[in-house]
Amino acid sequence: MSGYFDFKGKAALITGGGRGLGLAMAKGLASLGADVVIASRKLDQCEAAADEIKAAGGRAIALAAHVGRWDELDGVAEAAWSAFGKLDILINNAGIAPTAPRAIDVTEDLFDKTVDVNFKGPFRLSALIGQRMKERGAPASIINITSTGAIRPLAPFAVYAGAKAALNAVTKALALEYGPHVRVNAIMAGPFWTDIAKSWREELDKTIESAVGRIGRPEEIVTSALYLASDASSYTTGAVLQLDGGIP
Ligand SMILES: NC(=O)c1ccc[n+]([C@@H]2O[C@H](COP(=O)([O-])OP(=O)(O)OC[C@H]3O[C@@H](n4cnc5c(N)ncnc54)[C@H](OP(=O)(O)O)[C@@H]3O)[C@@H](O)[C@H]2O)c1
Repeated sequence: MSGYFDFKGKAALITGGGRGLGLAMAKGLASLGADVVIASRKLDQCEAAADEIKAAGGRAIALAAHVGRWDELDGVAEAAWSAFGKLDILINNAGIAPTAPRAIDVTEDLFDKTVDVNFKGPFRLSALIGQRMKERGAPASIINITSTGAIRPLAPFAVYAGAKAALNAVTKALALEYGPHVRVNAIMAGPFWTDIAKSWREELDKTIESAVGRIGRPEEIVTSALYLASDASSYTTGAVLQLDGGIP
């Protein structure tokens, strides 16, 4: 059983891998032998993450990428695939959660940005890389990081919630299209201590009502990602794994 978590010879692309949950998953995969491509808008942050992984003995490459731009994603997919000659794992983790007090305050710009980064980009990248994975014919895994906002939407996060719900739906559709070799799953995250949660986490941590009774730490998403990335989850596809400390 221990061999399941040996990622030597596997290559992974993690979008938004320069900080937060993405960095935790990139470091987790690299520590178990995976070669990782870390992609986001801020190349310096991706390079710092790659340097940290390399200093610990891993192999990592930084890639500048804006996942909300459809036309740029062909180039991102090509660069990420070429970095190590293939991809076995794609983690669509990059996300943004802008809020508006009321639906009437949502501008077209806020709406488009939110949907582009949280839904359009992950869909297109999954298509570009999933197609290549399918044609290669080796076991591969795509993991979409969604949000419990999809099933417990709060008014100020309405657009974000809708985009993440859409990504949950697409997860199941792509699992059907790319199976049996390529599995596609989602981790539907509840609150975690990262930059995205800066504005509300302290208040939430005092008041959170969940089985665990606190906000998650970034490292607590890693083993779920490792499970879905590895053959340990060979019969799991099209699934949405809820990771929220047991919020009712
Ligand atoms: N933390 C939570 O409580 C929580 C809860 C539910 C779901 N999630 C989801 O978990 C994922 C990771 O979030 P996090 O908590 O780690 O947030 P974070 O610390 O704010 O990190 C977000 C990452 O996404 C990248 N990113 C944002 N926009 C991008 C774009 N247009 N193109 C490429 N990369 C982009 C950022 O890098 P750059 O700025 O360099 O682009 C950063 O690396 C997101 O999908 C988020 O929706 C988080």
